Amino acid sequence: MEPWIAPSILAADFTRLGAEINDVLAAGADIIHFDVMDNHYVPNLSIGPLVLNSLRKSGIDCLIDVHLMVKPVDRLIGDFLEAGATIVSVHPETTEHLHRTLNVIRKGGAQPGIVFNPATPLTVLAEVIELVDLVLIMSVNPGFGGQSFIESSIQKLQAARTLIEQSGRQVRLEVDGGIKPANIARVAAAGADTFVAGSAIFASDDYAATIREMREALNGTAKS
Ligand code: DX5
Ligand code: ZN
Repeated sequence: MEPWIAPSILAADFTRLGAEINDVLAAGADIIHFDVMDNHYVPNLSIGPLVLNSLRKSGIDCLIDVHLMVKPVDRLIGDFLEAGATIVSVHPETTEHLHRTLNVIRKGGAQPGIVFNPATPLTVLAEVIELVDLVLIMSVNPGFGGQSFIESSIQKLQAARTLIEQSGRQVRLEVDGGIKPANIARVAAAGADTFVAGSAIFASDDYAATIREMREALNGTAKS
């Protein structure tokens, strides 16, 4: 699968969110990563379906990758489907019935994703891999931007890549947390094809130059 760069808007200037999104898209982003935090499942509070709805109404029609860090998650899913999410990813800890939740996302017209924290084993993945279009490996503990990459995520990416290959399905493998031009080639070599980057992109002076640097690092690896 072609690699996707997914800027996380958590690090954007929220006073001009629509413009920030248009800027990173013009700079070469493939998909926008939209982090939803509830101050309960994770110790931070961010944005909800109202913001996604406003972005869509303003004419932003790109792919939007909604990462739900909300517990319980089920009640909010319909709102994100209605607001126009492309991908909706959930952490298994946030729902009592993961299989049902993933089916609800699919039936609602979005692509279901499953997210694994650094301390969450991949064990449930085999049970639901037929239902998902994306596996997201957290390379930091969820809740904040700007944290350092956790090294054990490399082994987890490799293990997830093996399970995806065994399934024979087209499933994206996304990595989220502490991704920068300096380490993107290593996570790609471990099997990732979708790269979330918040602070690395939005805190840089030149979004296009940073995204270009990431693509150049990816082009230097064996994976494409
Ligand atoms: C963390 C979020 C990330 C965050 C990544 O809980 O899921 O998407 O924005 O930020 P950086 O790239 O700065 O680590
Ligand atoms: Zn995220």
